[in-house]
Amino acid sequence: MKTPPPDTSHPAEHAGNTIASLRKAATNCRACHLWEHATQTVFGEGSSHASIMLVGEQPGDREDTTGHPFVGPAGSILSHALTAVGISREEVYVTNAVKHFKFELRGKRRMHKKPIDAEIVACHAWLQREIELIAPRLIIALGATAARSLLGRTTPIKVNRGKLLEYATGISLLITVHPSFLLRVPEENKDEEYEHFVNDLNLAKPFLG
Ligand code: URA
Repeated sequence: MKTPPPDTSHPAEHAGNTIASLRKAATNCRACHLWEHATQTVFGEGSSHASIMLVGEQPGDREDTTGHPFVGPAGSILSHALTAVGISREEVYVTNAVKHFKFELRGKRRMHKKPIDAEIVACHAWLQREIELIAPRLIIALGATAARSLLGRTTPIKVNRGKLLEYATGISLLITVHPSFLLRVPEENKDEEYEHFVNDLNLAKPFLG
């Protein structure tokens, strides 16, 4: 008897048609090796009718332990900046390009490690399904990893940030920096960079509702 061919499909392909069913299926995702050391899958959250979807890089330490996206220091900056432009976290959908925390241990500290291309590609099917189900009118790519996942290629953030691009029919794309960049900039540039970030996010305002 012939053995059947191995199942090479991505788990996202048969994870159902709701965000809840995707989230459930993603808890057991083995599409790359990042699940091995992470505490849990951190799936997207927010309004399932959101007209704006924000895409970050990957969960950080706090997100990994709580299971929710953007609840750590970068999340605080993001929430603050959204409030500054009159957008509440409740009315948007927030997710990440990569759904497991990648880190290296330094002593007892888990230090963030940037995902490599293969990990971004392995996780893309989840993001794609989130986009299909939420059907936002605007996607905001927060930083290089999100832009890489969405566009399928690396994109210089500095030259592409702060303008509305076309992502797909009926879906615009706004690229800006990752909020954790604002945590790292020298003190003397922090206000200016934060203002720049808020100005970028301001372009999202007309997409609300
Ligand atoms: N950084 C991200 O890109 N996503 C999070 O959820 C938290 C920090």
